[in-house]
Formats: sequence, structure tokens, C-alpha cells
Amino acid sequence: MATPSIQLSSGHSIPALGLGTWLSKPGEVGQAVDMALKAGYRHIDCAHAYGNQKEIGEVFAKVFDGQLERSDVFITSKIWNTFHSYEKAKEAVDIILGELQLDYVDLMLIHWPMGYEEGGELFPRTADGAKMRYSKEDYLDTWKALEDAVNDGKIRSLGLSNFNHKQIERLIGHSRIKPTVLQVELHPYFQQKKLRDFCKKHHIVVIAYSPLGNPTNPFRKTGDPSILTDEVVLKIAERYGKSPAQVALRWATQNGIVVIPKSTSEHRIKENGALFDFELSHGELAEIDGLDKNWRILDLTQRDGDHPHFPFLEEF
Ligand SMILES: NC(=O)c1ccc[n+]([C@@H]2O[C@H](COP(=O)([O-])OP(=O)(O)OC[C@H]3O[C@@H](n4cnc5c(N)ncnc54)[C@H](OP(=O)(O)O)[C@@H]3O)[C@@H](O)[C@H]2O)c1
Repeated sequence: MATPSIQLSSGHSIPALGLGTWLSKPGEVGQAVDMALKAGYRHIDCAHAYGNQKEIGEVFAKVFDGQLERSDVFITSKIWNTFHSYEKAKEAVDIILGELQLDYVDLMLIHWPMGYEEGGELFPRTADGAKMRYSKEDYLDTWKALEDAVNDGKIRSLGLSNFNHKQIERLIGHSRIKPTVLQVELHPYFQQKKLRDFCKKHHIVVIAYSPLGNPTNPFRKTGDPSILTDEVVLKIAERYGKSPAQVALRWATQNGIVVIPKSTSEHRIKENGALFDFELSHGELAEIDGLDKNWRILDLTQRDGDHPHFPFLEEF
């Protein structure tokens, strides 16, 4: 069954399901992207900081040489924290297009609002390794570089990731091109209802990262709960002959949220793609709404919490 798409304020549209690629290992990520495209995925979520874009670019070069049209696939990438100055952000766009072997990306996000020291490694740690060395760059300058890249035809739509509502408001007040999407952690245990309502008001489509509550996220702590073994999710899954992962993803898509589950397993890539042949009832959606624990997995407060642009000290 074809994946539905959601209209963006830029005039383009985004498929409601994409493949995530964070922590997809070199040697596996290319194959995963190839399998996903063969399974019907038409949206791939990438980032320079994932360190695996070159291998993905090799797959794009192959498939766009006869198998698929470039316009068939929605491709996202992200500007990393060490590229926040205007000049560095412009450079980052070209680096990304080079790695992915593309003339343009469909969507470019600012990965995080915090800038890190520019010009060196992607994760410039302090001497004790506990924190990052910050830069004073303002994400408004990053955005200006991206607006210029849109004018140059290198990017179709712009968006943000990991920004809070105040930062989004500030950016909207200082931009020519408005953000079309916000990509944030979102799953049944972290539903971000206030932020979703705020985005709706501003015509910003929400993309859920870690939509399965990433069972292998390195930021998880022992004893952390798992959506995929949650009794409510399991009971609903059983009712439809679906997996818990499919139920978590369907809850999001029925709420108008785009999902980008990551997998490198052919079986799970196909499973996560088989979402649109069943529909949860209002009662079941409400049951899953009731599971919210306001529980963020990717919590960088210890590492980056004192950065002036750290987003997660705000209520939403
Ligand atoms: N903007 C940001 O800051 C940000 C942050 C985090 C993530 N992201 C993006 O969002 C994507 C998704 O988030 P995520 O990777 O953190 O987490 P996720 O998609 O919630 O979970 C991925 C994990 O779940 C496993 N998995 C996948 N399908 C499954 C299924 N059907 N049943 C059981 N386990 C399954 C995967 O293992 P296998 O590979 O072995 O299947 C992997 O370990 C990322 O890959 C990345 O593209 C963005």
C-alpha cells in the first residue's frame, strides 16, 4: 500500500514514513537504504553527523541511474553543530550534497540549536571528555545560509530539529523562509503534545525521531521502559495481528506525525513499512495517549545543559 504524503508550507510534500539512518553501521547502511527503497520507502532521513552519508550517496547514485527518478525520493539531511556560522553552514550544504551525490536535498534541518567549536572534529570535547567546547554562533546565521541555499536550488524545504517553541518563534520572527518541519524525539512515552499544538498553529509538520523509543539508544539507562513490550501496545497489536512497533508507528501517523524508524534488518524495514493497511480506533488512540510519561531518552542536559541555546530546559 502506498505511503501517504503530508503537504508542507513550502509547497512540497513529505512521505509520512521514512527510513532513519542514525547508528546504521558503515557496511550496513547502504544495504538498508537499498532494501527500504525496494520495499517502497520514498523518504530517507540522513545527517552529516551520522558519519555514513557517503555510503548512502553511493546507493543514491546507483538507483537514480535508471531505477528511480530523483524526484521519486524525499531526502533529508542536517547541518551539524560545528557548522553554525554563515560561512560554515554554506560549506556544510556543499559537503552534504557531495557525500550524498545529489544536486539538491528535499529538506535540510538545523540538527540542534547549540553551536560547537568550528573547524575541527564533529564532537570537540573538553579535556575531561564530559562536555563539548561550544561556539558563540547564532542559529539565525545558520538559517540565513540555508535560505540562500534554497535560492541557489540546493535545498527544497527548510526545517529545524531539537528546537524549543521559544527558539522556533524567534527564528520565525527573523526569517525570510519559514520552517516547514520540526524533527524531535516523539513516541508513546514522550508525546510532546504542547509542542505539537504549537507546530500546528505555525503550519509546521512534526517528524518523530526515535518513534519506537529506540530500544538500543546509547543514552538509555538500565531499567528504562520499552514501548515494544508495553502491555497496552501489545494488546492492541495482537488485535490486528500487527507488531508493537507497527502500533507505535501507526499511532503517530494517525496523529498527522511523520515517522522515520531506523532499521538495518530487511525483515524489520518491511515490517515498519506495512503501516497503512490497518487503522487504530479512537478508543485505541486514546489508550496510547494515556501512556505518556513525558520521558525523554535523548537527554543531553548533563553534556550541553549550560549552552545558551540548549533547548530542553524550557517547558516545551
Ligand atoms: N534529529 C535528531 O537529533 C535525531 C535524533 C535521533 C534520531 N534521529 C533520526 O530518527 C531515526 C529514528 O530514531 P532512532 O534510530 O533513534 O530510533 P528508533 O527508530 O525508534 O529505533 C531504532 C532501533 O529499533 C530497532 N527496530 C527497528 N524496527 C524494529 C521493529 N519493528 N521491532 C523491534 N525493533 C526494531 C532497530 O534495530 P535494527 O536496526 O536491528 O532493526 C534500532 O535498534 C534515526 O535513525 C535518525 O535518522 C534524529
